[in-house]
Amino acid sequence: MSTVPPPAAGSLVSTLSRWGEETRRDLPWRRTRDPWAVLVSELMLQQTQVSRVLPRYRSFLETFPTPSACAAATPGAVVELWDGLGYNRRAIHLHRAATTMVLEHGGEVPETLSELLALPGVGPYTARAVLAFSFEEDHGVLDTNAARFLARAVAGRALKHKEAQDLADLLVPPGGAWAWNQSVLDLGATVCLKRKPRCDVCPISASCAWTVAGRPFPDPAEGSAGTSGAQSRFEGSDRQGRGRLVQALRTGPIDVTRVADVTGWPGDPDRARRVADGLVSDGLAEYVDGTLALPG
Ligand code: ADE
Repeated sequence: MSTVPPPAAGSLVSTLSRWGEETRRDLPWRRTRDPWAVLVSELMLQQTQVSRVLPRYRSFLETFPTPSACAAATPGAVVELWDGLGYNRRAIHLHRAATTMVLEHGGEVPETLSELLALPGVGPYTARAVLAFSFEEDHGVLDTNAARFLARAVAGRALKHKEAQDLADLLVPPGGAWAWNQSVLDLGATVCLKRKPRCDVCPISASCAWTVAGRPFPDPAEGSAGTSGAQSRFEGSDRQGRGRLVQALRTGPIDVTRVADVTGWPGDPDRARRVADGLVSDGLAEYVDGTLALPG
């Protein structure tokens, strides 16, 4: 695809910007430009709903208001505060990222794309989100919500990865990355929904490429870069066993003889052991004196 936005993009951008000004949700991470707070919020928001993030975001920043405060804690203390958010590996990444900031960046969140991308657990989305939402630099942020909006409303077809990022960057009104990206994320999260898009209340349906074409099958968002595929089943998965173990570890070490019971697989100690070993190799747990414990 060329790097010129489609002809309808101008009116789409102005209409969506106006909608965003009027409708955008008032969220605590939208009231700050502190890059650490923004980084924490964006890591928490990956794959986790806003309603779950709200209370944890506040208590996390009360305990760890700076990268240095986080780096000074044990990784286990960070995992404890990740309670209720799931995908606990993010907590370990955040702790490692904080440590890197202390060792290499004077305790500050770095301010360039390449330095941000070099931090553990920070990918293209999170790095650009920090640049746009904290430093107000012009970058298009591309999470699953934004990727769906781009494929449907702007391109009207599934996009490859570089096309999607180029288009996201092109659409940013110069100097307006903060407001624009927050509006795009809100449209994706509240209107341009994955399974049942609410086109009847969509502010940009008149200039949405997919709608203008009569919403032909397949949905352009399906298989487009950055849109999430089907979630694998949680019930009965290794991830469920991992989650149970980490949840139990938050209350204290577990004797290794109890690991199979705690995972919920009393009849399959080999599987339980493999999952526990996985936690240890990911840095989420350690074996200490015949117990499994959060890392000290
Ligand atoms: N999801 C990812 N980033 C977000 C943000 N800044 N606000 C709301 N939801 C989000």
